[in-house]
Amino acid sequence: MNANLQVCVRRFPRDVVGVDDFELREAAMPEPAEGEVLVQSHFLSLDPYMRKRLADAREGRYPLSTGDVMMGRTVGSVIASRDPAFKTGDVVLGWGGWQRYAAEPGQNLQKVEPLEGGSLSAHLGVLGRPGITAWLGIVSVAQLREGDCLVVSSAAGAVGSLAAQMARHLGARVVGIAGGDAKCDAVTRQLGAHACVDYKAPDFAQRLIDATPDGVDVVFENVGAGVLDATLDRMNPNGRIAVCGLMGHYHSGEPYAFRHFARVLDRALKVTGFRIDDNIPLHGRALRDLRAWFDAGVFRPWETVTHGLEHAPDAFVSMLQGRGQGKTLVQLT
Ligand SMILES: NC(=O)c1ccc[n+]([C@@H]2O[C@H](COP(=O)([O-])OP(=O)(O)OC[C@H]3O[C@@H](n4cnc5c(N)ncnc54)[C@H](OP(=O)(O)O)[C@@H]3O)[C@@H](O)[C@H]2O)c1
Repeated sequence: MNANLQVCVRRFPRDVVGVDDFELREAAMPEPAEGEVLVQSHFLSLDPYMRKRLADAREGRYPLSTGDVMMGRTVGSVIASRDPAFKTGDVVLGWGGWQRYAAEPGQNLQKVEPLEGGSLSAHLGVLGRPGITAWLGIVSVAQLREGDCLVVSSAAGAVGSLAAQMARHLGARVVGIAGGDAKCDAVTRQLGAHACVDYKAPDFAQRLIDATPDGVDVVFENVGAGVLDATLDRMNPNGRIAVCGLMGHYHSGEPYAFRHFARVLDRALKVTGFRIDDNIPLHGRALRDLRAWFDAGVFRPWETVTHGLEHAPDAFVSMLQGRGQGKTLVQLT
């Protein structure tokens, strides 16, 4: 068997993440201990929250040290098992990290069904955490109704693109917000949003007004800062804002002053933050809906896939810089 290629943390970035913050290493093949399972990863998920994990680790608030394998969600095949619940060939979701092989405690793994004609990568996207997150925001938190006008920020991203497609399927008018003409074009043409507004355009606020002539009923918020501020001013009375992420605040330690926060009061808005791991009892229901919609062809495959673990740092930096669309993945096999 091959040695185990790994990507480890070389240093914790102070500000912007660079490829030099990581280093490649060859390690011995891990040996599963009693209760552990040896998994060969096929796909690694790259996500914005990893940037926050690195910042937290630097401050001692997350258990990751320099020299450790970078953490991450993976889908792979069992190649040896010392847990009776798993056998060779099982396909599993786990936290294998940025490496080809991982020995993981069986209790951390979740078996998944291979999809007919579908890629295993869907288990890290539409049928994984991005799908569940989008479902929680749209169905459980915002309780989107047919005819609502929904605005979704980072609409070309992993979670946002799924929220947009789900909302369109449920009969909403969908307005995306994304960075640049090419992404906005893709959000309307490929995801079927009714409109998409470029938040980098100097006249962003006016473009948002033009795209939401009857106001906004529901917001699926991934960015915060100026993007949310402009949207607050478009809200209809009793609107709902599902706060999923605040990417516009992650890189900067500076506070952001909202000009339109008063809309929360004068339009009686309901602003609700939610986190996937606080809603585990709802995951089963979410996955049943997502699987039914997936099988019915509601979602387009929408992925940026980089081949080869050695390119994971580049792919991660590139995702944080806004290059790429949909779910960002590294294919390892
Ligand atoms: N609440 C939860 O439980 C939960 C679970 C998963 C994810 N999240 C959050 O959900 C959000 C979306 O996650 P994701 O995995 O789908 O990521 P994503 O949207 O695929 O992230 C990449 C995209 O974010 C956009 N972006 C990056 N920095 C930005 C900034 N400063 N301002 C505006 N846009 C920026 C870029 O798109 P543009 O080119 O369009 O700028 C980039 O392509 C994140 O905030 C994440 O932390 C929350």
